[in-house]
Amino acid sequence: MQAFDVVIVGAGAAGMMCAAQAGRRGRSVLIVDHAQAPGEKIRISGGGRCNFTNLDARPAAFLSQNPRFCISALRRYTQQDFIAAVDARGIAWHEKTLGQLFCDGSSKQIIEMLVDDLKAAGAQLRLGLSVDRVSRMGEGFEVAFSDGSVARCASLVVATGGKSIPKMGATGWAYDIARQFGVRVVETRPALVPLTFEVGALERIKPLAGVSVDAVVAHGKTRFAEGMLFTHRGLSGPSILQISSYWREGEAIEIDMAPGTDVFEALKAAKASSPRQALHTALGHLVPSRLADLLAAEAGARGNLADTPDKTLRAVGEAVNRWRIKPVGSEGYRTAEVTLGGIDTRDLSSTTMAVNEVPGLHFIGEAVDVTGWLGGYNFQWAWSSGWAAGQAV
Ligand code: FDA
Repeated sequence: MQAFDVVIVGAGAAGMMCAAQAGRRGRSVLIVDHAQAPGEKIRISGGGRCNFTNLDARPAAFLSQNPRFCISALRRYTQQDFIAAVDARGIAWHEKTLGQLFCDGSSKQIIEMLVDDLKAAGAQLRLGLSVDRVSRMGEGFEVAFSDGSVARCASLVVATGGKSIPKMGATGWAYDIARQFGVRVVETRPALVPLTFEVGALERIKPLAGVSVDAVVAHGKTRFAEGMLFTHRGLSGPSILQISSYWREGEAIEIDMAPGTDVFEALKAAKASSPRQALHTALGHLVPSRLADLLAAEAGARGNLADTPDKTLRAVGEAVNRWRIKPVGSEGYRTAEVTLGGIDTRDLSSTTMAVNEVPGLHFIGEAVDVTGWLGGYNFQWAWSSGWAAGQAV
């Protein structure tokens, strides 16, 4: 039996940040992970370059039943704080787009920084170890591990993330522990995930698989202007991943595939200036040619623009600027970048991430019902919430 001030389960982004902070404060820390390597999601993130934060990280970019919950942690440990840590380590980075910061080199640099930080702070990292049992012991906890060892601690931090990508070791363990201790869990669902279509709609877009367009994708008043990709199953790309966090089964999304261009007006102008042009040619100046070919064929436009009634041009314009489609589902946790929902923030302190009714038990990172947009926001939440718990344990 070993005794620690703090046991952290999950050596991902949030857990490692918390371990380093707690260690620096003089706490004895054990951090365990059932994976053979720490920070596996960091490693594969951002195409191997880790989109580690966003210059514009602010509470409005996070979804939660309680949108105010994330404010405290995000204010106390900001994107500028993490950038300062990255700079101090000498990791070169760049802004790709929309405030998204990526390593110039490799996401492994971020993992190495976090592992070095927690070790320098005296924390013990043990890999390939899962938890068999957690019990309350007086004011602390007893944690039994898969190798038969047992640790006692005053603070137990659950940093096991969400359910996305089970083949990378994601589990619902955080929710199980929550239930064990009577902590409420907001229903979870895959988010930042490609959306899928029913057979008929798929048949229609089949020729477009692989085509990408700049798009504005809207769900009610929420809209994202980013790239969109046609796939064999439906739609993907940043704008679709973003809207997937807001969309629910049975609802439609509206897509503008030529943002900033009124396609009907543009086609009418083309008809006036170049009446002998074919519709698909004129449309091909506004959207990718495979999409233009499909829409022109669907419009039944034969001959040139001069022979195409304005009514047809208007219908094509609508199809480009206001495509309404009801996805049937999503690709699920298999490909989702994050999990929406999770530990109910009503039961947590926003300053310490501790469970109000179970002092010493903390939940951080993606396990909590705080989900960021695509673009470095989710790592910022992991850093900020991990940091906040690290000050309190
Ligand atoms: P995280 O999932 O990182 O860590 C949890 C750890 O707990 C894992 O190491 C896991 O092995 C361990 N664990 C789970 N269950 C356990 C158990 N029962 N016992 C022991 N250990 C257990 N975000 C972003 O901001 N920028 C980006 O570029 C990307 N890119 C990206 C790409 C892909 C493909 C995915 C899937 C996700 C992203 N994300 C992202 C999201 C980001 O990876 C995610 O939000 C954070 O990693 C969450 O950090 P956590 O520490 O909470 O969980």
